[in-house]
Amino acid sequence: MTIIVTGGAGFIGSNFVFYELKNYPDDRIVCLDSLTYAGNLETLEPVMDNKNFRFVKADISDKEAVEKLFEEEKPDIVVNFAAESHVDRSIEDPGIFLRTNILGTQTLMDACRKYGIKRYHQVSTDEVYGDLPLDRPDLFFTEETPIHTSSPYSASKAAADLLVLAYYRTYGLPVSISRCSNNYGPYHFPEKLIPLMISRALADENLPVYGKGENVRDWLYVEDHCAAINLVMRKGREGEVYNIGGHNEKTNLEVVKTILKKLGKPESLITFVTDRPGHDMRYAIDPTKIHNELGWLPETCFEEGIEKTIEWYLNNRAWWEKIISGEYQSYFDKFYSERLK
Ligand code: NAD
Ligand code: TYD
Repeated sequence: MTIIVTGGAGFIGSNFVFYELKNYPDDRIVCLDSLTYAGNLETLEPVMDNKNFRFVKADISDKEAVEKLFEEEKPDIVVNFAAESHVDRSIEDPGIFLRTNILGTQTLMDACRKYGIKRYHQVSTDEVYGDLPLDRPDLFFTEETPIHTSSPYSASKAAADLLVLAYYRTYGLPVSISRCSNNYGPYHFPEKLIPLMISRALADENLPVYGKGENVRDWLYVEDHCAAINLVMRKGREGEVYNIGGHNEKTNLEVVKTILKKLGKPESLITFVTDRPGHDMRYAIDPTKIHNELGWLPETCFEEGIEKTIEWYLNNRAWWEKIISGEYQSYFDKFYSERLK
């Protein structure tokens, strides 16, 4: 089986590439990634020489490049992780979110229609459901919760989801969608809450907490997300949406305090800053459907996952320090110039 993994040089996509190569050694994994600021080819270095792995630098909204790849690889499955993924950036500059997240999805699905595919899987987010109030802990997002977006990021992801379902209904394209809560773990880009706070705390810099830090996120260890996507794309029903989450709700302040405690740093580093405009209050997933239909359950609780994550950032300082310094962006040129000599 040949699987195209778009966005495989990013946080979740790279973890997914490792997951597939490890668990399905007979499958071929082709990573399609344009290496935006969030893509880091160095992350994929351990698998670059794997005979079942190929990296291709291209934009998912580049029809010609996408079709060329489909012609060369004849993929059985396409799983689309490629996206602009940071809410704060979408508030500053929405345009690129619409181009990549919506038009990129369309380009990929058009290629799937043209060349034929067993499954197109769209990696989506719980943010398409909007948010839940803090005073109703009994409420959770189910697959039936109406789409109700807050940020340009979530609106672009929701638009893509609707397009995916439209391609199923109109053209019969065999699609599936998974909507996951916040991920954390190795290779998380240090602009997102958890890696940002770890890297800043280690440098004794202040930790910018938006508003009062009372917003709640439902944290899932990235490997659990990869296992869930793998199940949905191989065994999930066509045309269906599956929510993914593990009931690990924490306020932002709880998360930041946990990180400080584990690193032995003082809470005085916490600095409350102006809130994000339109800031979603609470995300919380009901994962009953994926559990009942596919038997998926998360394996890592937050307490274990955050320890593993902190440990990883302590043991892999070079990876994130090169991101903070910007050095990682020259890796692609260096990697290929050395190989083309
Ligand atoms: P990320 O920002 O770390 O990685 C995105 C990757 O996509 C990068 O490698 C980037 O180079 C690539 N990319 C961006 N635009 C591209 C384009 N036009 N063509 C080709 N490649 C392009 O993102 P992530 O956190 O790994 O998220 C992956 C997916 O999972 C996204 O679709 C996101 O919406 C979804 N998701 C993320 C989370 C989370 O907590 N991070 C939760 C639920 C869903
Ligand atoms: P983030 O990691 O950007 O993920 P998302 O917005 O997709 O949930 O942010 C997680 C939470 O942390 C969110 O409520 C915003 C908050 N946050 C801060 O308080 N300070 C920060 O510097 C960042 C990046 C996020």
